[in-house]
Amino acid sequence: MKIIVTDNYEELSDKAAEVMLAVVKADPSAVLGLATGTTPLGLYARLVRDRAENGTSYARVRTANLDEYKGLPKTHEQSYAYFMKKNLFDGLGIAPGQTNIEDGTAADEAAECARYDAVLETLPRDIQLLGLGSNGHIAFNEPGTPFGSGTHVVELAESTVKDNARLFADIAEVPRKAFTMGIRQIMQARRILILASGANKADAVYKMVCGPVTEAVPASVLQLHPCCTLIADKAAAAKL
Ligand code: GLP
Repeated sequence: MKIIVTDNYEELSDKAAEVMLAVVKADPSAVLGLATGTTPLGLYARLVRDRAENGTSYARVRTANLDEYKGLPKTHEQSYAYFMKKNLFDGLGIAPGQTNIEDGTAADEAAECARYDAVLETLPRDIQLLGLGSNGHIAFNEPGTPFGSGTHVVELAESTVKDNARLFADIAEVPRKAFTMGIRQIMQARRILILASGANKADAVYKMVCGPVTEAVPASVLQLHPCCTLIADKAAAAKL
């Protein structure tokens, strides 16, 4: 794993934007695996600003998102579909037909997982962006998820519900289940870029990079990826 440690979140976002822009400039029809959470917001703002200033085209880019809360329609402000539209797709001029994400409202979970598995088969990702859960999760693959997993529905860990409650009016509103891309599919991306910011990620960063490769720490699987870059700010990298 290549590791870049930055002084702060702004520099982390600058470096992440450099990586993503290089991918899109090298191949304007690149397939981007995208993530939600607060960590990629600085990166997304920079991509939007770059397009406004330099006209980088996303007309032929296609995207696949990692995960979606079960039960939230794409019009819900906390759904990941809404997050992506608001924070990235509108600003980059990426039309809904170019994007892919699980449907949180799908009644038949197995059919929705099979549909998304099929979508991912046809969309080999040139780069997969990831955030890191404080418990070492990637996407919504919680500790204990088999490394061979495909798209599935998860029961969110209590710590994840607590971590994500800050974005909802009340913890009771945080969905307890989610659809997520599996670890096998994350590992299929040609290149992985994982971002970690803040002291509350320091333990997870340490275990991901220095600990044993174990399903108890989902992100530790990234040690096995041939082309993975971690960009962490000083606070998140403090235990390395
Ligand atoms: C959520 C998402 C993950 C994300 C994680 C960290 O649980 N499903 O994809 O990486 O949160 O989020 P944040 O960047 O807000 O710390």
